[in-house]
Amino acid sequence: MKRLTHELANSPFLFHWLRKLPEANYRATKSRLAALRDRLAPERVLDLGCGTGEFAGLFDARGYLGIDVHPGYVRFAARARPSHRFVCADALTWSGDGEPFDLVLTNGVLHHHDEATARQLLLAGLRHVRSGGWLTVIEDAHLAGRRGAALIHALDEGDFVRTPEAWRNLVGACVPLEHEETYVSGICPYHLMLARKP
Ligand SMILES: C[S@@+](CC[C@H](N)C(=O)[O-])C[C@H]1O[C@@H](n2cnc3c(N)ncnc32)[C@H](O)[C@@H]1O
Repeated sequence: MKRLTHELANSPFLFHWLRKLPEANYRATKSRLAALRDRLAPERVLDLGCGTGEFAGLFDARGYLGIDVHPGYVRFAARARPSHRFVCADALTWSGDGEPFDLVLTNGVLHHHDEATARQLLLAGLRHVRSGGWLTVIEDAHLAGRRGAALIHALDEGDFVRTPEAWRNLVGACVPLEHEETYVSGICPYHLMLARKP
């Protein structure tokens, strides 16, 4: 089953469209990100692990940069949103864009990585945030008793879906959290964390 998921996920088109159904087109995530955008008013936004650019449209194209390690996803994103900027790069080694960002968003990336790599990615993301700027992490979360979500997580490519507490511990060990919340988008539970870089 995992192999089939891997094959499907490797196709940017299928990856982009198939995920929308269990996620109810990410309505719950998009409304939270739109509220954060309106409150924080970031000019420069880095979408770390942007995938096919699903969330790019929430941000002004002039200040947005999406990076992802999958070249097919980056090509798909660039075709779908020609005014936004996308770069194919590994976030662990990417040297940055010259200037830091007001907001770094990483959504659904860390559950693909073990604790040590997830921590390195967080620290890499934080390096690109300006002092006083923001880091937002949204991650797939285990919630007891949610059978639909358990099925989605079993099919998910990411092997490291964590509980909200585990996410809090992992992210909170890298930067103090200002806000966190657990919510459900479609049938998928998420944990959102917001931190301000000192
Ligand atoms: C579940 S997808 C989420 C994509 C997008 N953020 C979204 O929510 O639609 C995880 C993404 O993280 C990317 N990714 C994982 N590790 C990465 C790394 N080290 N550097 C850049 N991208 C990475 C994958 O290629 C994939 O596109």
